[in-house]
Amino acid sequence: MRTYYCGELDESLIGKTVTICGWVHYRRDLGGLIFLEIRDRTGLVQTVFSPQEQSHHLFKLAEQIRKEYVVSIEGEIKRRPEGTENKNSPSGEIELSVSSLNVLSKAEPLPFYPDEHQTVTEEVRLKYRYLDLRRPEMLYRLRFRTEAIRIMRNFLDSHGFLDIETPILTKATPEGARDYLVPSRTHPGAFFALPQSPQLFKQLLMMSGLDRYYQIARCFRDEDLRADRQPEFTQLDIETSFMEEEAIMALIEELLRKLFFDLLGIKLPDPFPRLSYQEAISRFGIDRPDLRNPLELVEVADLVQDVEFKVFSTPANDKESRVVALRVPKGVEYLTRKEIDECTHFVSLYGAKGLAYIKVNHREQGKDGLQSPILKFLSDSVIKAILERTDAKNGDVIFFGADKAKIVNDSMAALRNKLGQDLGLLQETWQPLWVVDFPMFERDQTNTRWQAVHHPFTAPKIKDLTKLIQDPLHCTAKAYDIVLNGIELGGGSIRIHTPEMQQSVFGILGIDAIEAQEKFGFLLDALKYGCPPHGGLAIGIDRLIMLMTGATSIRDVIAFPKTQTASCPLTAAPSVVDPAQLRELGIRVKTHESN
Ligand code: AMO
Ligand code: AMP
Repeated sequence: MRTYYCGELDESLIGKTVTICGWVHYRRDLGGLIFLEIRDRTGLVQTVFSPQEQSHHLFKLAEQIRKEYVVSIEGEIKRRPEGTENKNSPSGEIELSVSSLNVLSKAEPLPFYPDEHQTVTEEVRLKYRYLDLRRPEMLYRLRFRTEAIRIMRNFLDSHGFLDIETPILTKATPEGARDYLVPSRTHPGAFFALPQSPQLFKQLLMMSGLDRYYQIARCFRDEDLRADRQPEFTQLDIETSFMEEEAIMALIEELLRKLFFDLLGIKLPDPFPRLSYQEAISRFGIDRPDLRNPLELVEVADLVQDVEFKVFSTPANDKESRVVALRVPKGVEYLTRKEIDECTHFVSLYGAKGLAYIKVNHREQGKDGLQSPILKFLSDSVIKAILERTDAKNGDVIFFGADKAKIVNDSMAALRNKLGQDLGLLQETWQPLWVVDFPMFERDQTNTRWQAVHHPFTAPKIKDLTKLIQDPLHCTAKAYDIVLNGIELGGGSIRIHTPEMQQSVFGILGIDAIEAQEKFGFLLDALKYGCPPHGGLAIGIDRLIMLMTGATSIRDVIAFPKTQTASCPLTAAPSVVDPAQLRELGIRVKTHESN
């Protein structure tokens, strides 16, 4: 139907007759002249109808056109009259003098027009997602996503990777979330699980000798949602045999550097910096620190062990607690009493019982130059030591977190992020980072069992099984996470490749031999029949595209995302199903009343 896309039209085509197809983005009727701005996936172009130049019939037809009608238009490209050019548009120097107009489809008044998306709620945008996607901004993000995936594929193809699909109807793969279950009709009472990741299949492919695998893989996780989480999302999933951590990390760095350079002209560092898990937690309270933020936590427990202020001295003398200081340069200028109260409320959301602070007005004046509710509890020498340790300058505010380590880490990491944003401290750069040397295990929420920090298939650094079983806490994993500007972009590891080690790790996790056989028997079997050392990684494609396009939520880079409550307003999924369908599946749904 078309001879050109709107975005292809420019001065070089003046005098030419072309046909375009698209939506009427804007309509202006000046009485004597009618302008229709036509939009397609590539851009906008202005078309003109004048009663002098066009037939009466054509002008009358143009009068009936409304916004978002779908039309095809033929016309001659002409230079716009002087003074009417639009410098902001690539086709702003020209317009189409129309010789033929075809209405392909009419449009009723829309619930919202593409340029009105800010006036409606996200729920409405998602209900009419096909309208929301008409916005150039949304189209740009989806096109960007296509380009990025093309680069990933080309890169991996050229490095000898095979693109292999793995099942969606499968068995549970533990990645720390709940499973989405699918009832089986042919096996009443039995369920498939949708994959949280293709983890076990990609490992099996290595055991088959495929050597290098990748997949643009859909993953499903029933977990609490946030701006950077969706119940269904996409990974660039990778696995290799006979490659160690260094080689895998180098390959991923090369791919990310290529993506950023080819798509955004940005040179990411070579190599990416690295931090051990312990150092990340100690300096930032979190294993995915945003390195654009200059603020850091400083350990002060040793300085306050003997003070009479119990809020500090109790955790300072407890191995499972921390006392840290967070110095905010020039904080006095920005942080009024009201704002400090706000920060105190903010950290309380993370379990902190308070937020002690010192305002350093004039350090040279000793205690008199400071302002703080806790000065009365601290001796001059302790205060002096804290100021030295934090390298405090006049005008700074020092915040303190003192409690169980988890509370201090969670609350102070969140405060660091908040202050970085609110006070505009973030540098305008891209800060990728590898976090390495993760512990293998951590205590679960009830503190009664061990759980895997990554997944249970991650190899420990230690080879000695007895030592591993005796002291799981101090065992580090051959795991690596990639973090970009404070967002966990991807993670991976070298995997366990012997049945003995896999069984030992299951044992530590409290999965006994019977359960291990029932859940992962196929893996344990496969490990027996010749398994190469292997490892890999998965990158969250939605998160990567969100960061690269400057979107604030991954919902904005997914064509049809779910809401924060994991539903789809467009299709009204999830929905009640026909009782006959349930009967066939052998399922009876309990209503609230019958509970
Ligand atoms: P992991 O669980 O760390 O590792 O996931 C890898 C990456 O996937 C992205 N991601 C998500 N993105 C959007 N919504 C979600 N709910 C979500 N959950 C995870 C993140 C994350 O870094 N099988 C391992 C990888 C491996 O070991 O090779 C795995 O899935 O960007
Ligand atoms: P209080 O003795 O409870 O009045 O607290 C004195 C100061 O210490 C206040 O500024 C509190 O906000 C602060 N504070 C209380 N508990 C903590 C804590 N766990 N960590 C840091 N500061 C705290």
